[in-house]
Amino acid sequence: MSGEIPDLSRDELEALQLERLRATLHAAYHKVPHHRDAFDRAGIHPDNLETLADLARFPFTAKDDLRANYPFGMFAVPRSEVSRIHASSGTTGKATVVGYTSTDIANWAELMARSIRAAGGHPGDLVHVAYGYGLFTGGLGAHYGAERLGCTVVPISGGMTARQVQLINDFGPRVIMVTPSYFLALLDEMDAQGIDPRTTGLEIGIFGAEPWTDEMRQSIQERSGIRAVDIYGLSEVMGPGVSQEANSTQDGLHVWEDHFVVEVIDPVTHEVLPDGEEGELVFTSLTKEAMPVIRYRTRDLSRLLPGTAYPAFRRMQKVTGRTDDMMIVRGSNIFPTQIEELILTVEGLAPHYLCVLTRPGNMDRLTVQVEAADAPHPDLARTLEARIKARVGVSAVVEVVAPHALERSLGKAKRISDQR
Ligand code: DLL
Repeated sequence: MSGEIPDLSRDELEALQLERLRATLHAAYHKVPHHRDAFDRAGIHPDNLETLADLARFPFTAKDDLRANYPFGMFAVPRSEVSRIHASSGTTGKATVVGYTSTDIANWAELMARSIRAAGGHPGDLVHVAYGYGLFTGGLGAHYGAERLGCTVVPISGGMTARQVQLINDFGPRVIMVTPSYFLALLDEMDAQGIDPRTTGLEIGIFGAEPWTDEMRQSIQERSGIRAVDIYGLSEVMGPGVSQEANSTQDGLHVWEDHFVVEVIDPVTHEVLPDGEEGELVFTSLTKEAMPVIRYRTRDLSRLLPGTAYPAFRRMQKVTGRTDDMMIVRGSNIFPTQIEELILTVEGLAPHYLCVLTRPGNMDRLTVQVEAADAPHPDLARTLEARIKARVGVSAVVEVVAPHALERSLGKAKRISDQR
């Protein structure tokens, strides 16, 4: 059956990983000049891999390596054998291009079917896909997975919020796949249209593509009555479906380790960290044909934990931030998710916010613009300022704005505006 979660012991899984890893390293070395050069420079050869731990001797791949080989230089097969291209926009310079053979697309669809199943979806469910379709991997990734599982897909993509709400109300999807921030926008629109989310038939939200907190989960679940689970992935490694949180446990994301080796490294020393310690996630693909990735540095911060719902597969804790969206304000490191958690503790504030960084008179200033749930009240700003000072240790200026005053994102929410 599609999307079945493999019933393997940890030993069987690791044996499979080792066999697949050998093949991947050989393909990368023999078919991708960038990897051959990088392995040669590091004085390492695929034949040197004897155990999974030996992977740590191989060089990392970074986003810049993909940019330097733009557009198709990282492909391990001729371009004519690539059946799909995706790309991520990238904040600076060239896009990062990734390719898939038809086998890669089938594997990806299978992993997405597995992810939807773990999220609580079943064959026959109606699935509303509001991730963007196009070069972004979210829409088509979710779409192929839901179809493979045997669901009925509504491929609405992002945007047209009022219409989305109408279709949710009319069609009654059981599952919605969307960024958590856009789901909040959909809930606001339901309020505006006088629709109670509890009457729509929605039961499961599969939310990812951007960091979100457990506090946000609570708030979404209370407001809508659905069960909210986390999905993670990145285009360079495959797209969504690299890891998925189980509906039954809601305790972090099981990494589909039969298709990826996951490591957590210290972002500064690059040392591999033991399970349980926080650091940067690094992935190596095990089955990708068109574009194998070797030790791809994600910049995402997390930690590895033992499997629960699926015992052979380790979990990664919800991503807490990125090594590069860390804000440094007067020497303190702050992640937007820390501010978000605090916003959600203040009754009367809505979780729509923007952290604005400026530097008047050479002093960093963090201004948090946040929407009021109803009418803005000066006490709200003072309360949040005090909590940020107490919990994060910096003085921030809080500006509470009217509901809907901040720009809504159709895709990923913009949390930081750095104007320094
Ligand atoms: O965002 C793939 C995706 C689509 C994942 C739909 C889940 C759902 P990219 O555009 O390449 O791919 O962006 C990848 O987004 O390195 C993380 O920083 C962030 N990200 C993705 N999922 C999560 C998540 C897609 N569940 C980058 N939690 C990654 C936190 C996430 N951050």
